[in-house]
Amino acid sequence: MKQSRKEFLKSAGLAGIGLTGVGALSSCASSQAGPMAGTDSPEELQNGYYKQQFNMSGYAAPALDQVRIGVIGTGNRGRSNTGRFARIEGVEIKALCDLKEQAAQQAIDELKQNGSTHNPEVYAGSEDVWKEMCDRDDIDLVIINTPWHLHAPQAIYAMEKGKHVATEIPAAQTLEDCWMLVETSERTRKHCFQMTNVCYGFFEMVTLNMARAGFFGEVIHGEGAYIHQLISNKFSRSLHQDLWRLRENASRNGNLYPHHGLGTIAQIMEINHGESMDFMVSISSNDFMMRDKAEELAETDSFFEKFTDKTFRGNMNTSIIKTKMGRTIMLQHDVTSPRPYSRIHKVSGTKAMARAYPTPQIGNDYREGWFSESKFREVEEQYTPEITKRVGEMARRMGGHGGMDTMMTWRLIDCLRNGIPLDMNVYDAALWSAIIPMSEWSVANEGRPVSFPDFTSGSWKTNKQGMDIQLEKGGTTRFV
Ligand SMILES: NC(=O)c1ccc[n+]([C@@H]2O[C@H](COP(=O)([O-])OP(=O)(O)OC[C@H]3O[C@@H](n4cnc5c(N)ncnc54)[C@H](O)[C@@H]3O)[C@@H](O)[C@H]2O)c1
Repeated sequence: MKQSRKEFLKSAGLAGIGLTGVGALSSCASSQAGPMAGTDSPEELQNGYYKQQFNMSGYAAPALDQVRIGVIGTGNRGRSNTGRFARIEGVEIKALCDLKEQAAQQAIDELKQNGSTHNPEVYAGSEDVWKEMCDRDDIDLVIINTPWHLHAPQAIYAMEKGKHVATEIPAAQTLEDCWMLVETSERTRKHCFQMTNVCYGFFEMVTLNMARAGFFGEVIHGEGAYIHQLISNKFSRSLHQDLWRLRENASRNGNLYPHHGLGTIAQIMEINHGESMDFMVSISSNDFMMRDKAEELAETDSFFEKFTDKTFRGNMNTSIIKTKMGRTIMLQHDVTSPRPYSRIHKVSGTKAMARAYPTPQIGNDYREGWFSESKFREVEEQYTPEITKRVGEMARRMGGHGGMDTMMTWRLIDCLRNGIPLDMNVYDAALWSAIIPMSEWSVANEGRPVSFPDFTSGSWKTNKQGMDIQLEKGGTTRFV
């Protein structure tokens, strides 16, 4: 890396002022870089000290006919992502990397079982072996599928080494890392795409299209969530490497996974493209389940004794965001209690509303209730975007959370091959991830408000509309 973290923070004027999460933030209720120094001009107060070096919003990197890929992390998600990339025209899987040789080998075996002709080189066996893979000069795109704390360091290193990056969610865990991603992407002009697959959910994209067409009128409020009963998975000794997901829940308290509920709501509100997040508050319930589960398991398996003295994350976290234009967003995160799966995905405007869970519904008059099934289908069809018409059927067949994973994979590669801007950029990655440390701070401080940093340095005011669901350009890549 050209600059160490310390050097970067010093040169950007961010050193020592609360960019590393709960502890550092707790001295004040702002995560902005500027306002805490006290002597700033109004412009500095607005944008912080950091000045944008290059605007990555709308940035189109030179087209790549072949997209040569290196994958870091071949656990559950890494293997399924690799299989999907392998099915896209113009992709060459050059290398696979995992801490564990067996995991990398399993990915190779699965590629072969599926008749793939890709023949990636394997990097495995040590904590830092992924750096060797990123040092290669024949890789264009690095896909990151490792435990959360590794995403930002791996993305930053890969961009420094001249690679575009697609990282699993969340892109970062601390505000410091969010800023580092922005700074590195702007300086290197490498994409930092956060793989928010839910933005390619079929109904989510219908609602984005409806919002763009003015169906909802002015959007006033949105709701999203990641409510998924995963308590058994978290306590599984075999599912996740070193129980990393349980450890996260045992050491942090806030919304640790905001992206699934937030992505499309942020796109509908055109956050970073004419709209911006202003401040948020966050409150967590107590933990009524995870510590009990650890104690129960420890009775028969001493391995779990180390978790019996932990203060686990509150089971339900609720956060509320206010935007600069006066809209509100409610986000929830609960991965333990016995509730049906829900991303809520509620969009409420001056003329109509829609929600995705428990079943997709649209309505525009309280006296009539939700639309009848036939009217719903009619509206759904009318607002089905071009991207779904073009590849939706194939995506459904190939699957991956009902097809949205395939849709995202195809679209990412198609953008890179056609040299067009990506649907999500480093500012989305930084902002959506910033909610994690900011919610932790608010939870630790009785739900006090905390201001969002402006990762776009003010360019949100003029950035053009985001995700291209109508495929105005591109759309030429096939499946193989
Ligand atoms: N978007 C989605 O719908 C979705 C779904 C599942 C998982 N995910 C995300 O995917 C990521 C991976 O989750 P998972 O369920 O596959 O976890 P996992 O534990 O199954 O896999 C993680 C892999 O990373 C490897 N690893 C750990 N340290 C490493 C290092 N230093 N170098 C190289 N490899 C290393 C592990 O050995 C393991 O194989 C997470 O960020 C998770 O949030 C996203």
